[in-house]
Amino acid sequence: MIVAIDGPSGAGKSSVAKACAKTLGFSCLDTGAMYRSIAWLALERGVPLDDGAALGQLARSCDIRFGHVEGDPIPKTVSIDGADVTSAIRTARIDKAVSPVSAAPEVREAMVELQRAVGRSGDYVVEGRDIGTVVFPDAELKVFLTASPEERAHRRVRQNADRGVGSIDYDEVLSDIVRRDGYDSNRAESPLRPAEDALSIDSTDRYIEDIIAEICALARSRMPQAGR
Ligand code: DC
Repeated sequence: MIVAIDGPSGAGKSSVAKACAKTLGFSCLDTGAMYRSIAWLALERGVPLDDGAALGQLARSCDIRFGHVEGDPIPKTVSIDGADVTSAIRTARIDKAVSPVSAAPEVREAMVELQRAVGRSGDYVVEGRDIGTVVFPDAELKVFLTASPEERAHRRVRQNADRGVGSIDYDEVLSDIVRRDGYDSNRAESPLRPAEDALSIDSTDRYIEDIIAEICALARSRMPQAGR
């Protein structure tokens, strides 16, 4: 079974996706981390960010792996071509580079293929921008999670402070969120938009626990086998 969670940057997708996966006993796939890893590798190898063909070649030939602690289905690390990039992909430099990389059709094609193969290998909560619209249009449950830009900026600043990575300047984070919203929503290839059959949830004034409970209850009601 696939639970698709899409939405803009900072809406709480990662926290919600991980908690739902844990509660449901599913694995979890962070597709944003995949695009971020390609952006990191492109910068590392000096691939121009406006060269779609070269970026696509990189995306098709690289080896992205999620690392797990024994017995935990939620990945703790991500690596690309053997380099652990778990922290490196969360910097402001990657926040900027990932927009053109994820807008390249050649990159998206390679990533979508990979995401479909991973997702269909078991029960997955998959988070991203185009999961319900493009990657898994037949997902059993689709959620579109939003929050106001200001609320998302506050959350991102707190998250960056906790992680010790990325900007903790509220104005800088807010302007980057607004910039990425525009970029993700207006790009020609797989723009950010809710699937027609997605459940839209605005998390601005809600407790995350309530949202997790709502999604898990719905997911359980749609599971193929009763009683799970
Ligand atoms: O969720 P995130 O902020 O880690 O995503 C990083 C970037 O990747 C973001 O700018 C949008 C892009 N992305 C995408 O285009 N499609 C996805 N399925 C996931 C992320």
